[in-house]
Amino acid sequence: MASNAIAETNDHKAAVREEFTRQAQAYASAAVITDADRLARLVHAIDPAPTDRALEIATGPGYVAMALAERCREVIGLDLTAAPIAIAQRTSRERGLNNVRFELGEADHLSYGDGEFDVVVCRFAFHHFLNPGAILAEMCRVCRPGGTVAVEDLYASENPTRAARCNRLEQLRDTSHTRALALSELIAIMGLAGLEVERVHSDRLTTNLEGWLTSAQTSTDRAAEVRRRFDEDLRADASGMAPFMRDGAIRFIQRTAAIICRKMQRGE
Ligand SMILES: C[S@@+](CC[C@H](N)C(=O)[O-])C[C@H]1O[C@@H](n2cnc3c(N)ncnc32)[C@H](O)[C@@H]1O
Repeated sequence: MASNAIAETNDHKAAVREEFTRQAQAYASAAVITDADRLARLVHAIDPAPTDRALEIATGPGYVAMALAERCREVIGLDLTAAPIAIAQRTSRERGLNNVRFELGEADHLSYGDGEFDVVVCRFAFHHFLNPGAILAEMCRVCRPGGTVAVEDLYASENPTRAARCNRLEQLRDTSHTRALALSELIAIMGLAGLEVERVHSDRLTTNLEGWLTSAQTSTDRAAEVRRRFDEDLRADASGMAPFMRDGAIRFIQRTAAIICRKMQRGE
């Protein structure tokens, strides 16, 4: 598990900005990211009140923030990278949403006060953090006692060797990928942050290898290495991603979990 001693380095933030500037347009139109049912499931699980103020960290093109804005009084979406923030601003204007705004900022040093938000959420970004535990602590700091902290992310195998193989494939595809945690690790960091885990929803996405590489605009040599490793994996499933052939194309499974937590009140 990541230790609190590791900080998000400037080099890593530069890699994140480079990837998500290059990928911004493709990412913003990816089916799994725009999927209205998936967004509705997450918002339903969070179940915000109409009076709530919500914060989405690492908002990217802002779909979670915009889905929350349909239910909350006010929403802020924050991200390190300017290109997806610009897409989020444009999309929210087009949708006529005037209770959501998007800001540049760093999830490990949030500029908001303690307990400012009723809901703090992060989707599909923990696997880009060097120290997810430290960022979770920041999410908890800005959430009011009794409020909701929710994290949705990919998760890796409980078997460390398979998890390492899966994370290597992800890193070859996208240099800003750090590590998808195992589901038990994700839940453990929630407990260490003092959160009460209220609900866990898991899901399995069937992903087409070539579409996955294209959406990240993976370089030719890295993509060749990913294909070679998946070819091997078709026989062994050494990554836990369960690759298989359908209609002449390699597909594999990405597992995701949404973990909905409550920040404990003092004395609870
Ligand atoms: C895979 S995208 C997820 C976007 C969005 N949450 C969604 O579900 O569509 C990851 C995002 O995390 C952002 N990010 C990564 N590290 C960050 C950090 N330390 N602070 C703020 N944003 C960060 C990236 O810029 C990128 O937009």
